Amino acid sequence: MAKITLSVIKADVGGYVGHSSIHPRLMEEAEKRLTRAREKGPLIDFRVMHCGDDLELIMTHELGVMNENIHKLAWDTFVAATKVATDLKLYGAGQDLLSDTFSGNVKGLGPGIAEMEFEERKSEPVIIFMADKTSPGAWNLPFYKIFADPFNTVGLVIDPALHEGFKFRILDVRENTALTFECPEELYDMLVFIGSPSRYVVKAVHRKKDDEIAAVASVERLGYMAGRYVGKDDPVMIVRSQSGFPAVGEVLEAFALPHLVEGWMRGSHNGPLMPVGFEHAHPTRFDGPPRVIAAGFQISNGKFFGPRDMFKDVSFDETRRLANFIGDYMRRIGPFEPHRLPLDEMEYTTLPLVMEKMQGRFEPLEEKQD
Ligand code: F6R
Ligand code: MG
Ligand code: MG
Repeated sequence: MAKITLSVIKADVGGYVGHSSIHPRLMEEAEKRLTRAREKGPLIDFRVMHCGDDLELIMTHELGVMNENIHKLAWDTFVAATKVATDLKLYGAGQDLLSDTFSGNVKGLGPGIAEMEFEERKSEPVIIFMADKTSPGAWNLPFYKIFADPFNTVGLVIDPALHEGFKFRILDVRENTALTFECPEELYDMLVFIGSPSRYVVKAVHRKKDDEIAAVASVERLGYMAGRYVGKDDPVMIVRSQSGFPAVGEVLEAFALPHLVEGWMRGSHNGPLMPVGFEHAHPTRFDGPPRVIAAGFQISNGKFFGPRDMFKDVSFDETRRLANFIGDYMRRIGPFEPHRLPLDEMEYTTLPLVMEKMQGRFEPLEEKQD
């Protein structure tokens, strides 16, 4: 069997109601288009899902990553869904489509992309994580836990197939540079960077001993693309598991702690990342708190068996309860940091306006008085 490519491409092209969820008509439109592409090519298979207001296209094919046909298919699907959203006057129709024209691929045009090409193993369990009201740096901590933390992934300690460790590819999203760390040897160095997830973002993880792709995330930050912070970049992540990769349970365990991520209300607040079942991926309290869903698949000759709703399990109930508790606590801090993001990281700001108003009112300090 030839290598298959798993492409997850997503965009927010209209919310229902507000930014909380997606209207079924958008999903139907996407289903219609991708069904046609499965019948006539180039798709082997697909699933249409959503997390909050983000439309998620999950596709398999044999054309490799960053393929023009596949990206054009995703782009055209988002444009068609935008038309539906516009007709229904859904909220923020076409929000993530930053350009009027498609050229070559969707990178830089607004949608988020996570793609990997691999030869299917005898059995290929994959988990696709999709989040809303947050940004790609939200995956840094789970990435670290899954592939570098023996307290999360005991396979790193006791499974010879994982014992050598993994390589992390990190992007500096401000400078547009990349660097790779080998773990466990360079763990401490790596944490200096990925502990700062608004700037350094894990893009991909490979198994060290054979360079096999283990995981990949979408890293598009709409924020810096148009030269200023322009909007959402709710991320997706693909993780392969079992037989030489972390077990399904080790992958999911990384979400048992609802860590703080940025992106809540107006993309300008920190809040706990709450793992939920599919039916609860509708953030409403203060437009949040940020959500993540996990869709489990067995892939067989490019065909999807799934999704299984991996966070629906009752063993995540306490995580959700803790997330609500932390959410309550953070909300009480109101417009103060660290609930509200630092001034230069907020998606919305009135700072220039207020600064303008304060013109001439800043006085030099007088030593005795101040
Ligand atoms: C956060 C988000 C929402 C909106 C908020 C205001 O990622 O999408 O919290 O920022 O609802 O939306 P507008 O400016 O469209 O009224
Ligand atoms: Mg939206
Ligand atoms: Mg969203």
